[in-house]
Amino acid sequence: MTRTRVRDAFLLSPSDAAVTIAGWVRTRRTAKNVTFLEVNDGSCLRNMQAVIDGSNEELRHRAEQVATGSSVVVTGTMVPSPGQDQSVELSVSALELVGGAPGESYPLQKKRHSFEYLREIAHLRPRTNTFGAVARVRNYLSFAIHRYFQEHGFLYVHSPIITASDAEGAGELFQVTTLDYATDFFGRPAYLTVSGQLNAEIMASALDRVYTFGPTFRAENSNTTRHLAEFWMIEPEVAFCDIDCNMDLAEDFIRTLIRGLLDQCEEDMAFFDKRIEPGILESLAHVAGSNFTRITYTEAIQALEQSSATFDFPVSWGADIQSEHEKFLAEEVYKGPVIVTDYPKEIKAFYMYLNDDEKTVRGMDVLVPRLGEIVGGSQREDRLPVLERRIDEKGLSKDDYWWYLDLRRFGSVPHSGFGLGFSRFVQYCTGMANIRDVVPFPRTPGSAPF
Ligand code: 4AD
Ligand code: MG
Repeated sequence: MTRTRVRDAFLLSPSDAAVTIAGWVRTRRTAKNVTFLEVNDGSCLRNMQAVIDGSNEELRHRAEQVATGSSVVVTGTMVPSPGQDQSVELSVSALELVGGAPGESYPLQKKRHSFEYLREIAHLRPRTNTFGAVARVRNYLSFAIHRYFQEHGFLYVHSPIITASDAEGAGELFQVTTLDYATDFFGRPAYLTVSGQLNAEIMASALDRVYTFGPTFRAENSNTTRHLAEFWMIEPEVAFCDIDCNMDLAEDFIRTLIRGLLDQCEEDMAFFDKRIEPGILESLAHVAGSNFTRITYTEAIQALEQSSATFDFPVSWGADIQSEHEKFLAEEVYKGPVIVTDYPKEIKAFYMYLNDDEKTVRGMDVLVPRLGEIVGGSQREDRLPVLERRIDEKGLSKDDYWWYLDLRRFGSVPHSGFGLGFSRFVQYCTGMANIRDVVPFPRTPGSAPF
């Protein structure tokens, strides 16, 4: 038996050739002695309508056993569909019920379920339109990310998941342990990585341009709609590249991904536009075709101070830009993505390049409407004495970073990179309100089922 995926079946013209489709039944309805099964196999958003003529006794009897949620294999021929939702449908000649789903107990009955409820049944929610579409968008973007870097001469490198260093110096680490400290597996405290950046810097210091794309973990207790405790991050790192070159890369990368997404995931993106975030297609198309605004932190603070908006968090030079400020800048002030650079050194990580003013560092955040920050990056401090001083100032230990300092001791080069949170980006591209609904199995404070 050769199966045809639903997505491919829709491309077939009506003919006498036998077509077999396998999938899960979304609905069954009967009208005038004809039974209609809506079959979805995950290959696309649309269901194939399988039509069973009730004049065939045996087929009709079999169709009666099929309830919502069942898995079936149906064989028949493609015929023109009188319905307005599809051009073709499957006229069924054979029906096999593979796995039944006893009637009312199936948790995904045909009605709208809240995303909160669906989170409780994360093992079944991939069978909904929204989660199928999210899965296909994630798949496309993962593939497109690799393709982008491969086409631009970057090497994919694997950064370790278990690490002894806190790349962000922010102390939000999950410890990895088998025993108590003294006799522990690694003979020293070890953690789940918060970022592959420092390892990527090592590789870029030999291979020129590299990227990581892997899982990262943060034990920050932020119960927000944009934070996960486990998320995948894409981190390119480029040698002989300053902050401007870094901004150019981030911008081209994001625009290219969005352009491809609109082109390759048309059906799913139309769904998000219609059902999840009206207007998202237009706004993404706009982003794909325009330059990102570039401002300094100081200019961002001025813009916020001059606005008449009221914020929960006060605005002043030196304070961190909060998510509400980020969204305001991208949505109201600049009406599109904004790259903010040159942050006060006190609020950014130790590794960022110190500007001549000795007050600011060459960090860069890409802010977008609806979400705020989606990218964080910087030009790295490549001058040994300055980096040593910055490590001291941050109260970190130079011994812990001896190998990182060595990179500045031997053949140091200006270099830059950034991190794009994959799920946060998927959230941006789909318009989904909560990051827990764009990752199949979200891990957040107090919650790691499935
Ligand atoms: O700004 P962050 O912390 O930057 C870094 O980790 C750098 N080492 C990256 C680099 O320069 N190579 O994180 C980067 C991005 C954020 O902009 C955000 O998109 C995402 O990672 N992110 C999270 N996504 C989901 N849940 C969380 N808890 C996240 N924390 C950061
Ligand atoms: Mg950041």
